[in-house]
Amino acid sequence: MPTTVINISNRLPVTVAEKITKSSGGLVAALEGLSPDEYDLKWIGWPGAAIADAVRQQEVAGILEEEHGCIPVFLSEEEVAGHYEGFSNSSVWPLLHYMPNYMHYDSAWWDHYETVNQRFADKVLEMAHPGDLVWVHDYQLMLMPAMLHERMPELKIGFFLHTPFPSFETFRCHPKRRELVAGMLGANLIGFHTFGYMRHFRSSVLRLLGLESEITRIRIDESHVSALGVFPIGINSRKFDETLDTPEFAQRRDEFLHANASKRVVLSVERMDYTKGILHRLDAIEEFLSELDASERDAIKFIFVSVPSREEVEEYQELRAETEARVGRINGQYATLNSSPIRFIHGSVDFTDLCALYATADVGMVTPLIDGMNLVAKEYIACQREHDGVLILSEFAGAAEELSNAMLVNPYDARAVAQTLVEALALSDEEKRACNQPMRDRVMKYDAQHWARTFIGQLGSTSSGTMALFEPAERAAEQLRDALLHHKRIALFLDYDGTLREIERDARAAKPTAEVMALIDLLQERENVELTIISGRTAEDLEGWFGERDIGLVAEHGAAVRRVGTRDWEQLDRNVSYGWKDEVRGVLRLYEQSTPGSSVEEKRTSLVWHHRKTDPEFGTWKANELMHELGTMLANEPVKIRHGRKIVEVTAEQVSKGIAVRRLLSEKHPGFMLCAGDDQTDESMFEIEAASFVAAAADFVSIKVGNQPSRACFHLRDPATFRKFLTDNFAPTAKLVTDGSKAAATL
Ligand code: UDP
Ligand code: G6P
Repeated sequence: MPTTVINISNRLPVTVAEKITKSSGGLVAALEGLSPDEYDLKWIGWPGAAIADAVRQQEVAGILEEEHGCIPVFLSEEEVAGHYEGFSNSSVWPLLHYMPNYMHYDSAWWDHYETVNQRFADKVLEMAHPGDLVWVHDYQLMLMPAMLHERMPELKIGFFLHTPFPSFETFRCHPKRRELVAGMLGANLIGFHTFGYMRHFRSSVLRLLGLESEITRIRIDESHVSALGVFPIGINSRKFDETLDTPEFAQRRDEFLHANASKRVVLSVERMDYTKGILHRLDAIEEFLSELDASERDAIKFIFVSVPSREEVEEYQELRAETEARVGRINGQYATLNSSPIRFIHGSVDFTDLCALYATADVGMVTPLIDGMNLVAKEYIACQREHDGVLILSEFAGAAEELSNAMLVNPYDARAVAQTLVEALALSDEEKRACNQPMRDRVMKYDAQHWARTFIGQLGSTSSGTMALFEPAERAAEQLRDALLHHKRIALFLDYDGTLREIERDARAAKPTAEVMALIDLLQERENVELTIISGRTAEDLEGWFGERDIGLVAEHGAAVRRVGTRDWEQLDRNVSYGWKDEVRGVLRLYEQSTPGSSVEEKRTSLVWHHRKTDPEFGTWKANELMHELGTMLANEPVKIRHGRKIVEVTAEQVSKGIAVRRLLSEKHPGFMLCAGDDQTDESMFEIEAASFVAAAADFVSIKVGNQPSRACFHLRDPATFRKFLTDNFAPTAKLVTDGSKAAATL
């Protein structure tokens, strides 16, 4: 049975106007190559025209579905203005392309953007089944993955961004920056053209949502991970190769060669878009022409194919007007009696003509100021089969990473681009062939189908929301209720910061709230329950907050203990040497000086460098450097060096929470034990061999609060969820149900 792939892009692969015509975009080409035996492809999108009449809508929908496998989402003119022209193309597009000064924002556009994304999502949900692969494309639909994931987490949702993802400094300008990245994170797999775009995305996710990532994964919660990947899109190479073999192509090629027999042709093809660097290219062309005499000018011809685009948007109208004025001026200034240098076409050309143009132009001049990929560059190379031209390519196009044999230019440097053009025109056939051959091999091999198959293949192997990544905490609750039901003596060892209480940027502010105190009272009052709070905090802190309560306290990661039922503290580290501290303090102070926002904390058993208030990436980088430096320096000292949550900590080896807990357990064997923590320092508790202290494996429950990998058996999302877990299970009204039996006892 072929796997169903529901593909969603803003535009359908066909456009509905007077009649229905097939679009020729890269995405269409990529998906055409998927085998129908393997994938049953359904395509959802906007048909490109506002059709208000309901009867006509039904008619069009019928034809699109039957003849083209497409499901249309009809949008009103107002929605197109708000979603497409407004939010997508006047707000997000310029920002994704590092042009905040082109960005406009209107809150009504946002409403349309949300509504349209929801409309697309609803269409998917009408037809999707659990396990289907859903592939959402591009910046017009950034909210859709989260909308889909929320309603049907069993779907495998992919999102591919066809544009660049800019650095955080640019992306942060957008008023809806958080919502946009959060929307993308609903996907199980998020794809980019280059590693750089993916890196910028991770940085924005960290800074906007506080979510740390591994290089290719971001864990959102217990059941959802977004995998990240780099998938540079290719072209439909086969279609180009086949066209180069047709008689129609040969005829057009010969006609172009004949028409331009005495000329060198420099070709540019693009949508009329300010990202494509058209005006900057005209600067370079002017620079180039200014050095030529009249006969040399007769021997060169620049062809511009500028495909009309987004013509309702003001910046696009202005660009067109300015381009036409500049072309007119340049042609006026540099024309001879025989010719004018620039042939400017504001329109599209037919596919065979495009191939013939590519295959006859001496130079392909592709100089966007920035471009997600740029397929034209790859198409030009694909058509250098019998002929060899030179590709001049902007280093700011995603394609430059793969086409490194092209003549790479900085499009902002008009003089350098003009000079590169001079050099390109002087290259020998052998030199051109040597550059083009490896690029052509790559373009032909890593084509659009390869791109689509790789993405879909990886999407298919991701785990969707149906599979919990961790053991569900419900089982922990069952074990606990069973212990309560059987009146076992229960020992609780609970970390404080990040476990019972939310972390604060300033640790001093993280005092116990009334809710935390009420929970502690609730636990303390339960018969058979012994609560110990086990923390990295000082004994003074713990004593100040909880001293009046009859609970156990363990301070400084296990160095000092106040047992349940006593008021005296025992120092467990009397024989521990702290001679290493002076040297470590010196190093930590150096890091404090060189990392703004960081600080050093001194505790009895440890020294800690905090980087929570630093720039998150710089802080992590410095922390890694510090770990390395300390590792070498302290190799022979009796210490442990840990990189915890926004801290690097050096602790005496003989002191740990695990060691303290083991000591307390050996004094009184409880019938059931639960320990919980959020940090690296809590892992030593999770490692305890339960069998030595409690009766059965089921009598030991360890809970990690947070999403990071851990040795703990169970995970709970955050302190609030953990508090709820305790309240639900320890409140006197908690219902006790064991082993799924119907019997419920109320304590
Ligand atoms: N193209 C087209 N009609 C034309 C000229 C070009 O359909 O008259 C195609 C071109 O072959 C290429 C696409 O438009 O596949 C442009 O893709 P690219 O990645 O270069 O830029 P984008 O328009 O996506 O920003
Ligand atoms: C770029 C975008 C696509 C878009 C295309 C044409 O390639 O990444 O999402 O479809 O331009 O733009 P248009 O506004 O005509 O759909």
